[in-house]
Amino acid sequence: MSQERQSLIGTTYFFREVNLFQTALDIAKNNDISEIVSVGCSTGEEVYSLAYLAGRNNTLKFKGVDVDQRRIKTAQNGEYVFDTTNNTSPRWLVSMNIINELCSPIKSANNYRIDVPPDIRNRTQFSVHDMAKAPLPEPVQLIICANVLMHYWAFTNEDKSRSYALQRHLFKSLKPNGYLVTDRYSYEEYKEYVNPNLWLPQYDVLKEYPQQPLPTYFDLGMVLKRKDND
Ligand SMILES: C[S@@+](CC[C@H](N)C(=O)[O-])C[C@H]1O[C@@H](n2cnc3c(N)ncnc32)[C@H](O)[C@@H]1O
Repeated sequence: MSQERQSLIGTTYFFREVNLFQTALDIAKNNDISEIVSVGCSTGEEVYSLAYLAGRNNTLKFKGVDVDQRRIKTAQNGEYVFDTTNNTSPRWLVSMNIINELCSPIKSANNYRIDVPPDIRNRTQFSVHDMAKAPLPEPVQLIICANVLMHYWAFTNEDKSRSYALQRHLFKSLKPNGYLVTDRYSYEEYKEYVNPNLWLPQYDVLKEYPQQPLPTYFDLGMVLKRKDND
């Protein structure tokens, strides 16, 4: 798959991977981690959802990186309009009180606008980064990388080397014992490549969160832990 083709696939929406988000937030809380980095954050909804779910008074910081400059620009703007009848609409917004707290209706009943409030924006930061080219400049303790790797292999196998490079750089972007929270599809890919000397599968997200309502196939995630060696 060409780099351009990968960049075209930027589907994302608010509260999409809520089980993975909850997992990442719990790991941060239980391990005194002060920052969560979303790799392949697209237009930012994932990062803002995490910041919102952490609680409005939480001091946890959130970073989003993506290879696509235009998506990062959208993320930095923090202004969204969406239609709740669209099939990728954020079901969580309608099913939870979030819609009252974050959205203002525009035009018709099904159109909503979100201007991410300053208290959430202040805890977030976005930058352009190609994880297939290089690890993050500074290693971190917790990365969430959802629905990124699948695009490297689900459609064609022609560019395995870029997928492997991305996985290698994810590893190098973590401090020893750092955590990677990922989706089940991508985990299948990691399993093929993952060197058991480097990664320690921690747990299956759904087993830890069996009570979460509405788990979709995409909510089935895995947590990997970087072993203390390189
Ligand atoms: C399908 S979106 C997933 C967005 C979000 N994580 C989610 O689950 O809703 C995949 C994103 O990964 C980004 N991406 C693909 N390859 C990347 C790379 N090498 N480095 C950083 N981002 C990448 C794409 O530009 C795209 O925005």
